[in-house]
Amino acid sequence: MTAPSAEPLLRVRDLQVHFPVGGGLLGARRVVRAVDGVSFDIARGRTFGIVGESGSGKSTTALAVMRLVTLSGGTIRLGQDNIGALQGEALRRVRRRFQIVFQDPFAALNPRKRAGDAVLEALELMQVGDPASRPLRARELFEQTGLRPEQWALFPHQFSGGQRQRIVLARALAAQPELLVCDEPVSALDVAIQAQILNLMRRLQQSLGLTCLFISHDLGVIRHMCDDIAVMYLGQIVEQASRETLFQRPLHPYTRALWSAAPSFDPGARSRHGRLRLQGDPPSPIDVPPGCRFAGRCPHALPLCHTQAPALRELGGGQRVACHRVDDSATPLYPALPGDRS
Ligand SMILES: Nc1ncnc2c1ncn2[C@@H]1O[C@H](COP(=O)(O)OP(=O)(O)O)[C@@H](O)[C@H]1O
Ligand code: SF4
Ligand SMILES: [Mg+2]
Repeated sequence: MTAPSAEPLLRVRDLQVHFPVGGGLLGARRVVRAVDGVSFDIARGRTFGIVGESGSGKSTTALAVMRLVTLSGGTIRLGQDNIGALQGEALRRVRRRFQIVFQDPFAALNPRKRAGDAVLEALELMQVGDPASRPLRARELFEQTGLRPEQWALFPHQFSGGQRQRIVLARALAAQPELLVCDEPVSALDVAIQAQILNLMRRLQQSLGLTCLFISHDLGVIRHMCDDIAVMYLGQIVEQASRETLFQRPLHPYTRALWSAAPSFDPGARSRHGRLRLQGDPPSPIDVPPGCRFAGRCPHALPLCHTQAPALRELGGGQRVACHRVDDSATPLYPALPGDRS
């Protein structure tokens, strides 16, 4: 459960990122609603997860928080600062306070720069501490991220994928960020290595008291890493809760379908109940349907669902859900299906 007294570090309100597409000689100008009215808080020291199928707007949300895409609307506050509105030098000055780790560590590293120099350079760029202290600090970061001193002078291609992600982490932590954004940080790694990197990240998050926005399409990863979790569908949050609540009592039919379709955390459950299949693909974020965006795939859709968009409502205990068929006491008003987990 989120401690209710904890002051949020990050407050995102009604975030919108719309990409114009087309508009050439033949095509009419249209808009991809990649992120379409997303609001959430991340309390200090917590890891907030966003999960959802490919194309649901997770990465765009991360890029927006990092101020790496143009916002179409909404506000982003980091502590007291309205970082969504900063430009130019003011934006450059706050950048040190939020750092991102992407999926592909190879792309994030200069192939001609030795690992140790890459970390040292991050300290220099961010002007962390005085120049004389930086080599020692870089070596500490090396050790903290599980790299060996003798790896200092190696080039990125001489490392495995997992070790490369350690270098990227060391660089990100060099800035002593308040917020660490991780977008699918282990998706490119071998499954055997994923757990090592996730455990390292979790340890660092706890020992440094880091606040994290953690994005993954993988429920197992999200469950391992996150204290609070939002489920995104077609540019919007459809459900949010603490990890315990979301895994024990998912309420939105989409969350239930995702849970049911995932490699089971409880293999017995699936063989007993079969599997609730998620039919079809999400609609295009260009032609967003009226009403509930999940209606075309929802086994519980009513006529109302196709015309009226459900609001994301607070149900108490930090759980939020956007579904006409969940009442205010967090009771589903739709029948349980085979494969439903609760
Ligand atoms: N620069 C862009 N221009 C146009 N469409 C984009 C751009 N970036 C992302 N999109 C679209 O926005 C939607 C959300 O993408 P993304 O945030 O990458 O989703 P996810 O990370 O959940 O897979 C997708 O439909 C994607 O094709
Ligand atoms: S609002 Fe209707 S269509 Fe949307 S998830 Fe709920 S029951 Fe399904
Ligand atoms: Mg993505």
